[in-house]
Amino acid sequence: HEQEEKMGYLYHMRLSDDVLLDVMARFQAEMVKGLGRDTNPTATVKMLPSFVRSLPDGSEKGDFLAVDLGGSQFRALEVKVFNDGRQSSQLESKFYPTPKEVIQGSGAELFSYVADCLSDFMESRNLKHKKLPLGFTFSFPCKQTELEEGVLLSWTKHFKARGVQGTDVASSLRKALQKHKDIDVDVLAMVNDTVGTMMTCGYDDPRCEVGLIIGTGTNACYMEEMRHIDLVEGDEGRMCINTEWGAFGDDGALDDLRTEFDRELDLGSLNPGKQLFEKMISSLYLGELVRLILLKMTKEGLLFNGKVSAALLTKGKIEMKHVSAMEKYKEGLSNTKEILTELNLFPSEDDCIAVQHVCTIVSFRSANLCAAALAAILTRLRENKKLLRLRTTVGIDGGLYKTHPQYPKRLHKVVRRLVPNCDVRFLLSQSGSAKGAAMVTAVAYRLAAQRK
Ligand code: BG6
Ligand code: GLC
Repeated sequence: HEQEEKMGYLYHMRLSDDVLLDVMARFQAEMVKGLGRDTNPTATVKMLPSFVRSLPDGSEKGDFLAVDLGGSQFRALEVKVFNDGRQSSQLESKFYPTPKEVIQGSGAELFSYVADCLSDFMESRNLKHKKLPLGFTFSFPCKQTELEEGVLLSWTKHFKARGVQGTDVASSLRKALQKHKDIDVDVLAMVNDTVGTMMTCGYDDPRCEVGLIIGTGTNACYMEEMRHIDLVEGDEGRMCINTEWGAFGDDGALDDLRTEFDRELDLGSLNPGKQLFEKMISSLYLGELVRLILLKMTKEGLLFNGKVSAALLTKGKIEMKHVSAMEKYKEGLSNTKEILTELNLFPSEDDCIAVQHVCTIVSFRSANLCAAALAAILTRLRENKKLLRLRTTVGIDGGLYKTHPQYPKRLHKVVRRLVPNCDVRFLLSQSGSAKGAAMVTAVAYRLAAQRK
């Protein structure tokens, strides 16, 4: 602690409940801004209507394809939903790599790659002769005016393909698929991964009305009252809103909480000035934050006898998986020693303990910030329903939440402290977002059939 006091920058990363309640209030204001017709154009938190109007109701059935693009792993899937009195589902999937040339090349190449992978998947599942509806999970901010189209507002995370921003992504996928004369696929629905996750969890728990991702990026969606959504006609019922909370702070709203490390990380990213909340939370960035802090501490002589290694100077050398390993309950200390040694540092026992401490501060801040924004959503749900106490379920997915040893426990605890009047069940999505995307597609399919 004495050492920490010398380093005000670490102290600044510990957020008290008072600060978190303040962040929560700021996020509540952002949500209102994003939902308002006049205020939306200048809002940083975009509150995007998803055109998903209901949770799974048990009537969905059929055979669907799904593509899941934008998380740490890209996959094609077949989702079968049965309904013989009781609903059940079956999932088959295949992962495909996403090389940098593809996700940071030209848009046309990206979609033709996605179509090639889907065709390969259909071949391997012997599905090429079938005409199948497809649900597309696309984990980026898209402006939708209906379920089957979505205009990409901006790339986030590690994607940056040329010529896609401002264009309809579903139609680009359709065009790429049309070039494959041997398959017949109907892209019926496009959903954000948060929405897919909420629907996946909603299949098992009808109370689920929030979808949360804490992985490569971070974001949440929830069911909002139609009467509060200015940008969509109609006042009846509810619609799922993709908050795109990763962009919280892009207008300076969190500048008092951001540190020199956050600023440095942002400057070296693919999207400087953008997704500032996400950059304090998600797995694409946490390892790098740890590296920047260790570098500063070493240069100040507080670690490794002041000796910096070339590896420690290299961007990206510390990843989320290392942070998780270093924070493991029992093996944490020996993992830390091993990881630091691999970075050509010569850590003493004290160094290892200090590094673990840094990891904890960074990942705890992430869980705290996430909890504050989630608490704002839960409060909004409770107030919308005019309840004194809300009982609800949050569907969650994402590598950071799933693999970090302490993250879930910390997140749950802080949320419960910030909103004591909400009984929250945190439900981990076991099967990714695609099952939910299939649920949405099933509804779209039924509606399309009724229109014919
Ligand atoms: C997966 C979902 O399980 O989690 C994806 O199917 C989602 O849609 C992903 O994007 C998020 O986690 P990560 O860690 O892969 O970014
Ligand atoms: C980024 C994307 C968002 C997605 C999230 C989690 O924040 O902009 O759409 O939901 O990552 O994958």
